[in-house]
Amino acid sequence: MVFIWNTWKRFEYNFLYFCPMRIDILTILPQLLESPFSDSILKRAQTKGLVEVHIHDLRSYSTNKHKKVDDYAFGGGAGMVMTIQPIADCIDELKSEREYDEIMYMTPDGEVWDQPTANSLSMGENFILLCGHYKGIDERIREKYITKEVSIGDYVLSGGELAAAVVADSLIRLIPGVLNDETSALTDSFQDNLLAPPVYTRPANYEGMEVPKVLLSGNFKEIEKWRSEKALERTKTRRPDILKD
Ligand code: ADE
Repeated sequence: MVFIWNTWKRFEYNFLYFCPMRIDILTILPQLLESPFSDSILKRAQTKGLVEVHIHDLRSYSTNKHKKVDDYAFGGGAGMVMTIQPIADCIDELKSEREYDEIMYMTPDGEVWDQPTANSLSMGENFILLCGHYKGIDERIREKYITKEVSIGDYVLSGGELAAAVVADSLIRLIPGVLNDETSALTDSFQDNLLAPPVYTRPANYEGMEVPKVLLSGNFKEIEKWRSEKALERTKTRRPDILKD
């Protein structure tokens, strides 16, 4: 319900005062983020003017003569820490140009990203996604600038770029007009706390494995009923934790 309400509000909002979503990604490895945004749905969303994705190379903000963006950790220990200056300068510049709904830091110790979070943030307009590296960023950046710390799961990646691409993708596909079939985001897994039901395409018979008859029946009421039952069955067996009362 929340998702449908958000989608409606965004439609209403876009219709009255259209303004594309803007995502600024701050990284020391901009080339890692080129390909996810230059193909398929994410590319089309930008071409249609529904979203702007700006990738900022933190190294270009460094005032260090060697363009360094990291330094040793106070107190010793292995691993470098990303320094304050390039990150703070980049965020200050962006914040002087517009207001941001959230300034998110991609980190394994953040809140785990999920569909309800994506749904509620998809109503927002401007987001900054900061990608960490090495041992992470100086804690004072987190204290001063970060409004949301985001993890995409309980495992450690080499950097925040892939996490930022995941978060951006899940937000962008919720913008009305991004998906060809407007209802397809509604039937995604996790919307309404259910996994999606199984899907089939031709051939109807693959090595003796037949497509469930009801899907070939043309009876849409029965098909919907079957899909709901399968979604519930699948959720109960695979992800009972997401089922609400
Ligand atoms: N950076 C490294 N690991 C990460 C994770 N699991 N989620 C978000 N950012 C990360």
